[in-house]
Order: sequence, then structure tokens, then C-alpha cells
Amino acid sequence: SPFLTTEAEVTAPLTIAHRGASFDAPEHTFAAYDLAMRQQADVIEIDLQMTRDGQLVAFHDETLERTTDGTGLVRNQTLAQLKTLDAGSWFNDKFPERARAEFQGEQIRTLDEVLERYGHRMKLNIEMKVPEQYDGMEQKVFESLKNHGLLATPYLQNRRIVVESFTSDSLKKLKKLAPGLPLNQSIWKGDISQLSDSDLDHIKSYADSVSIHYRDATEKQVRRLKSSGLLVRFYTVDDLTEMDRLSAYGVSGVYTNRPKEHIMMKSE
Ligand code: G3P
Ligand code: CA
Repeated sequence: SPFLTTEAEVTAPLTIAHRGASFDAPEHTFAAYDLAMRQQADVIEIDLQMTRDGQLVAFHDETLERTTDGTGLVRNQTLAQLKTLDAGSWFNDKFPERARAEFQGEQIRTLDEVLERYGHRMKLNIEMKVPEQYDGMEQKVFESLKNHGLLATPYLQNRRIVVESFTSDSLKKLKKLAPGLPLNQSIWKGDISQLSDSDLDHIKSYADSVSIHYRDATEKQVRRLKSSGLLVRFYTVDDLTEMDRLSAYGVSGVYTNRPKEHIMMKSE
């Protein structure tokens, strides 16, 4: 059953495959998401940007250079233009030791393509990137989730989909559209120590989890967050020693580019 455990119930932190299994495959491609699924990650993490013609795509950067053979801003191109790009070969060039011929020609994927392929097989964590730049992003996320049947009660109750953002206004907008949808407030590196207890109470009014940078994670800080009633996640941990240190804090999820390593660590 896809509904075995909820995030609040698990004793080991969920393994959240950051941009897919993106240490071993080009981020945000089906190759990286498929590998995360094969490695038995609990969750696939997806960043969203928006095209000129208003399509949501799984893509981290605002610009195309780092992870495709294109140039310029994602928002200046139509989906049809983005679909002509190669989102895999950069990985083979940058990491020859992890290169695979089949990565060549991997496509940029729309949110709908991702939901179609993984929505009923994996838990998903969807990040609205720079939503202040993308008018109507929350409405589009809401409609896609609804159209794919992912806002049905059992999905909500089992935290199958979590939507996150660094932008609180965007989470509040989505909360109005989908009151039962679990939301995560992402916290910029260094910021958590500056948030007061009443700031945390405010976050708790619209989100039920926070993600903090793993270098900000002290036992005291994590205890404070948990006692405010928030679930806590760490991003982005690839180092085995750090995974081990952090596992003692009893958090609900760890974002990692190396899901296989995190799962192995949990089973030890
Ligand atoms: O919650 C933060 C997580 O999504 C990692 O951030 O910058 O890699 O998208 P980033
Ligand atoms: Ca992200």
C-alpha cells in the first residue's frame, strides 16, 4: 500500500531525494527521479519554475545554463522551446566518472508529466521557486494536484504531497486554495536562529513543517522547533558523518542528493 506511514509517525527520518537521485543522475530528469524510486527513497523533491506560456516545469535555477544546453531565463522561453533542450549531457560533461550514455537528451519535464508518472507511486515534495516572479503559480499548482487526484483525503492525510517555499505569502495563498494540503516553510541558511518563538507560532498557523539548512541544526534548535509543534527537515545532506550526527535529533525528513547512502545509514 502507498499509505503505510505518515511523516509524523515514522521513527526514522524520511529520505527526500533532492532534485531526484541527483548525485548519480542529472537533476530533475526522469533518469534522476526513476533512480530515486529504484533506490527506495521515500520522497522525490521537485523545484518549479514557470515558462513564458505559463507552464510549470521541474527546474531548479531561474536560468538554463547550468543544467541544459540552452541560455537565458526559463521564464523567457515557451515550453515548446524548452522541450528542444538537452537536460542531461551537462551532467556527463561535468561528472565523467558518473556519466551514462542514456542521460544524453533527457528532457525538461512539466509538473503534469511528473505527477502523471510519480504522483501515485511516490511521495512528492514540490517547491514553488521565486513565486513572487510568477503570477498565479499557486493556482496552477493547486489545479495540477487536483486534476491528478492528489488532493483526495487519503493523500492529504498521509502527507503524500508536501508543497514548500521560502516565500511565506505564497504558502498562505496555497493554504486558502487547499486548506488540508501539508505545507513546508523553507528557512534560508542562517535565519533560523533569528526567528522568535512567536515567529514560529506564526509559521505554524499556515505550515506544519520547516526545512532548515543542516549547518544550522543544533540539538537545542531542533528541540525548540519541535516543541513549537512543527515537523523539522534538514537540507541538503550528502556527507555520511553529518547524516549520522543529525540522525540523533529525531527529525522527520532529510533532503539528500544521495538517497541510497541515507537509506543505508538508517538501516545500520
Ligand atoms: O527546503 C529547501 C530545499 O528545497 C533545498 O533548497 O535551494 O536546493 O532548492 P534548494
Ligand atoms: Ca528545493
